[in-house]
Amino acid sequence: MAVRRRMRCVLDLGTTTIKAVLVEQLEDGVLKVLGTGLAPCSGMSRGQPINVDETIAAVEEAVQQAEDSAGRPIDSLRVAMTSEQVECQQRRAAIDITRNPRDTASSLVRPEHLRTVIEHARKEEALAIDRRYLHVIPQDFTLDGIPGIRNPVGINGLRLEGRVMLVSCPVTATQNLGRCVERAGLSVEGMGLGILGAAEITLRPDERDLGVALLDIGGGTTDLAVYQAGRLRTVAVCGIGGENITRDITMALRTPHSESEEVKRRWGCCSQKLIRRDERFSVGTMGGGHGEEISRSQLCQIVQMRVEEILDWVESRLQASGYHRLLGAGIVLTGGGARLAGLPELAVERLGLPVRVGLPEKVIGVEESMEPESWTAALGAARMEQSQVPAGKSQPRGMLARLGGSLRQWMRYNKRLSDTAAL
Ligand SMILES: Nc1ncnc2c1ncn2[C@@H]1O[C@H](COP(=O)(O)OP(=O)(O)OP(=O)(O)O)[C@@H](O)[C@H]1O
Ligand SMILES: [Mg+2]
Repeated sequence: MAVRRRMRCVLDLGTTTIKAVLVEQLEDGVLKVLGTGLAPCSGMSRGQPINVDETIAAVEEAVQQAEDSAGRPIDSLRVAMTSEQVECQQRRAAIDITRNPRDTASSLVRPEHLRTVIEHARKEEALAIDRRYLHVIPQDFTLDGIPGIRNPVGINGLRLEGRVMLVSCPVTATQNLGRCVERAGLSVEGMGLGILGAAEITLRPDERDLGVALLDIGGGTTDLAVYQAGRLRTVAVCGIGGENITRDITMALRTPHSESEEVKRRWGCCSQKLIRRDERFSVGTMGGGHGEEISRSQLCQIVQMRVEEILDWVESRLQASGYHRLLGAGIVLTGGGARLAGLPELAVERLGLPVRVGLPEKVIGVEESMEPESWTAALGAARMEQSQVPAGKSQPRGMLARLGGSLRQWMRYNKRLSDTAAL
């Protein structure tokens, strides 16, 4: 009997590049990359479109490349996105399973009980009219006072309480991104936060249990997700990324943008300890100047200042979350910005935690030349199962509604909650 191949296509709407990837899901959760496309985009700022036509053109180009390399057409896909206005909060709700404790059948917890608890917790009326849920993530349940149950289906009980993590963003953020994708002739199957995709593919279960902060340093934003005791605890997005470092270099060295980007990648470093004091390199300056000699230590100072600003933001968010002392597995860095030389060293120094770089795990077909750190959000979103949380009243209307209902929630971050999430 022929085995049905499970294909998925994801579009990562990054600030500096739009990435499209088509994958096949193999057994044991392994992904095989069938095709990729990457298009530079100057129509986005901090994860949101500021020039619709340029963004559409970049979407078309990335998808075309992915289709050419995979040798098959793409007409619908999931979208990985980010927004500085992302917020998350944990809510609880409780229901009675039965009023007749002696009736074994009626006191058995069934999937619909979990669905009801989750629906009560997400309470659409508590959400501002201009916001929508991006993710509704069941965390754990308490059954008749016994806490910490991950999946209570099949257990007898009278009262079920559930904790749910709700991640929301402005309705317009998803509308604007969705419209660019639709106008490129594609259907949006679902939309989710790229950082949760990146977590799916870079973090190991033991790290999530012990406590870990994932940092996706992209071109226009730095996204943070904290996990502890296996659960998502907080997400936050800051509008500073690698592009700010490139612009700082342009301002300081008077180099054209493309030259600044090249200098950053080739000579940039944010730890003075890793470079020789006498190292120098030459750059072409604005107005056609050639071969100006720059000290690498001077470049390091420029880069370091901006990276310290990012790391200070991370520290303040970790402190605010209350989990900064509970990150036994430390920090995992991903996103293109994580390729900057000296970043792990500076992060260890500044945050006082162990640091590693997160690459896509259990993926076939990702080469170093692709700069794998930049692909973690797209590949992780492709690995995630699509959860079936029903659409609520604040889902975007119009074009997305025409695409077979409103946006469906599709990210399920915790495999161990799979029974719960796939209600
Ligand atoms: N070797 C390197 N050294 C320093 N920075 C690098 C290196 N390689 C890539 N980058 C930076 O990574 C950034 C792009 O990363 P990425 O592709 O993850 O961002 P994006 O998805 O386009 O943006 P965002 O996630 O912020 O919306 C750019 O600023 C680029 O300069
Ligand atoms: Mg990105």
